[in-house]
Amino acid sequence: MTRPKNDSFLRALLREPVEYTPVWLMRQAGRYLPEYCETRRRAGNFLNLCKSPNMACEVTLQPLARYELDAAILFSDILTVPDAMGLGLYFAEGEGPKFERPLREEWEIRALAAPDPYDHLRYVMDAVIEIRKALANSVPLIGFSGSPFTLACYMVEGGASEDFRRIKTMLYERPDLLHHILKVTAQSVIGYLNAQIESGAQAVMIFDTWGGTLSHRGYREFSLAYLEQIVAGLHREYDGERIPSIVFTKGGGQWAEDIARIGCDAIGLDWTSSLSEIRRRVGDKVALQGNLDPMALFATPEVIAAEGRRVVDDFHSAGPGGGHVFNLGHGISQFTPPHHVSTLVNTVHEYSRHFHRL
Ligand code: CP3
Repeated sequence: MTRPKNDSFLRALLREPVEYTPVWLMRQAGRYLPEYCETRRRAGNFLNLCKSPNMACEVTLQPLARYELDAAILFSDILTVPDAMGLGLYFAEGEGPKFERPLREEWEIRALAAPDPYDHLRYVMDAVIEIRKALANSVPLIGFSGSPFTLACYMVEGGASEDFRRIKTMLYERPDLLHHILKVTAQSVIGYLNAQIESGAQAVMIFDTWGGTLSHRGYREFSLAYLEQIVAGLHREYDGERIPSIVFTKGGGQWAEDIARIGCDAIGLDWTSSLSEIRRRVGDKVALQGNLDPMALFATPEVIAAEGRRVVDDFHSAGPGGGHVFNLGHGISQFTPPHHVSTLVNTVHEYSRHFHRL
């Protein structure tokens, strides 16, 4: 019912006035933090960490103890959904995520069903409840999911892929089968995100990491159409509060107008787009989130500060008004020196204040 004490992130997403530009970072809880590596070691492996609400809560809070971040993001993974659909997720050391039973045969695809989030993904809901309690209304909690197309990439390929050969073959040869996967996955994502909202998530983000690998036409048919279904199916309000939604298609800046039309509150952008240029194109339809190149965090503190200011300047050069959430253009690298992150967060907070004075 009550907004968090620091609600600058929610306000920016809803394009309400703020005192400074709020900041959070994709993958803010992760391997660049020694305390994360320590908790992960205790858990035994990454999946155990995701499946323990207690340890998931612990690592969610770690970056907030170090930095003045304006939002927390649930610690989990996008691939918990296909795991709950029975594909058998595992992480092979140094190889990234893999599925024991990828979708290869038509009968396997036809047998696919949306999981009950309160049963198969109960551990995620328990983590959301525990994190909200631990945050004690200090900053908002972001829930998240993968997009149907991005999840389908992993479900069909069986793991990470360089060329997306299997899923693209299916797209061109058997679009009906791919549409079936996407339809069931979109239903799963709606149920999963709504359950996160009912458990306490105060904003939601959909990660469409691989939508940018599609053709101009393919993006609309195989990714955007399902993102639109999801946004339409989400709780817009819960417990008397608006629940803003963010859609992030990596490499999707060229389609910003189309994304802005599906009803989401904000668009996530990677570093290949200019925030002011996108702002001019989408007007005040949506807020923007992004978009510093994560590799900028390897430079000296002076350069990091200058690059952070450049992103803030870029957004505001399109004219007065708010609606910017500062973030990286993709997840933070595991090799990032932790103290470089403080430089970035503090610079954006201090520097952005003068743009928000009325
Ligand atoms: O932002 C956060 O702090 C929340 C946690 C989060 C993780 N994964 C934790 C994680 C979020 C939001 C994700 C999303 C995710 N997972 C995406 C979409 C965003 C993106 O990065 O494009 C994707 C494609 C995945 C799938 C996934 N999970 C991959 C490809 C990998 C391996 C990559 C790698 O960095 O090794 C993971 C594992 C993963 N998910 C880790 C973390 C912290 C590293 C696991 C470890 O500790 O070994």
